[in-house]
Amino acid sequence: MPPVISEGKPAMACGRSPQQVMQNHPFLRLMNLPDILPGERTKSIHVPHVVVTVGLPARGKTYMARKLARYLNWTGIKTKVFNVGEYRRQATTRYKNHDFFRPDNEEAMAIRIKCALDALEDVRHWLDDGGMVAVFDATNTTKERRRMIFDICTQKLGYKCFFVESICDKPNIVESNILEVKLTSPDYTDCDKETALQDFLQRINHYKACYQTIDEVEEAMLSFIKIFNAGEKVMVHKHEGHLQARIVYYLMNIHITPRTIYLTRHGESEFNQVGKIGGNSRLSERGERYSRALADYIHEQKIDDLRVWTSWMLRTIQTAQHICAPQERWKTLDEINAGTCEEMTYEEIQHKFPVDFAARDQDKLRYRYPRGESYEDLVARLEPVIMELERQENVLVIGHQAVLRCLLAYFLDKPAEELPYLHVPLHTIIKLKPTAYGCEVDYVKVPIDAVDTHRSRPKVVSLSRSYEDAMETLPFHF
Ligand code: SIN
Repeated sequence: MPPVISEGKPAMACGRSPQQVMQNHPFLRLMNLPDILPGERTKSIHVPHVVVTVGLPARGKTYMARKLARYLNWTGIKTKVFNVGEYRRQATTRYKNHDFFRPDNEEAMAIRIKCALDALEDVRHWLDDGGMVAVFDATNTTKERRRMIFDICTQKLGYKCFFVESICDKPNIVESNILEVKLTSPDYTDCDKETALQDFLQRINHYKACYQTIDEVEEAMLSFIKIFNAGEKVMVHKHEGHLQARIVYYLMNIHITPRTIYLTRHGESEFNQVGKIGGNSRLSERGERYSRALADYIHEQKIDDLRVWTSWMLRTIQTAQHICAPQERWKTLDEINAGTCEEMTYEEIQHKFPVDFAARDQDKLRYRYPRGESYEDLVARLEPVIMELERQENVLVIGHQAVLRCLLAYFLDKPAEELPYLHVPLHTIIKLKPTAYGCEVDYVKVPIDAVDTHRSRPKVVSLSRSYEDAMETLPFHF
């Protein structure tokens, strides 16, 4: 946690030069430790990683840091962002204007160094407590700063380091970033918009005065990616291993063009009505009506270049049938495979496989249907869908309950344990608008009745529970 220092008094750093702060900071005592033994950590399959952002303010570093963390957490890789700006705001209330960031402001510089080191120390605790990736979100604009981080992380602590530099020389991108996220920062709570904008531009100028872009020759030991103008061009240097390759691939696919993603389940199916899971049934009469209402809604929105994705199952294809837009069928979007329980009702599963049914209630995320899939399997299966959704602009995905729970968990940054219980009702359109640091969500209920297929976790999940206990949360079906 960032240290809280009393009102206006950056106690530790106060009166000390940046050099003294560096020498006295407990974290730097690690520099005196012997280097980590060759192979001590690198032999293990999961070497903790520190992803280090680099770049001037308002270049989308925090946007990338948070988005990357959301993606990695969704895939099961425990990731956390450490934002040095937040440490600075906790440590001092002294920020009055851009003077704080002048390179010759020694007192402020000492505070800034202390905050960076505090954040790095928390990175170490997080990774040593089982975290897998820490994103060190700061400007890190000098070679000296990057060298220090690299040496501590790799030589003393045995982590892998990957630098992500964002370079942007398009004033419109920088300005829209400032307007969207910087002016609402706590640094500018008591400030009008124009003053805040001018102050922030001055702050950028102070950073520009000592900014050194990553140098391939002098910093040849670093693994890094440079991203130019929000993805117009990328350059990758010495990336090592599977995780870094995934990070590179992800960062290459994301974009900042505003768009909306629409998610909906198929219309109510004949199997939904009788409480059966899986299978490949057709729409019910109410489901048919939903398919027409959905098309009307989508046409009314006049969405630019909309693409419609469905699974290969009859019920999603039928739901899309009236929509005039290019359509693609994805086998990857098919519903979770319930294996030997396909086409059964929950009552039948409890009768035939009571132990399996209880085991699923005990750990719905990891439970794999015999000869079928678990939610964890489904997340892995859907990764290419997420990657392609990131590349696209306006898309309507017509999918299935379990599949849409996984996609929704990604966009709304929901913890894995909540994922299998997310509400995705029938006859509802979920509108997702990605924003700078998250996603706005809106549920549009279409007034056509449908059964409820959401079964919450029952209170009793023991293997020997009664039939009544197992059926406690069973939704109504015909
Ligand atoms: C800040 O204090 O807002 C940013 C710190 C940094 O330069 O990384």
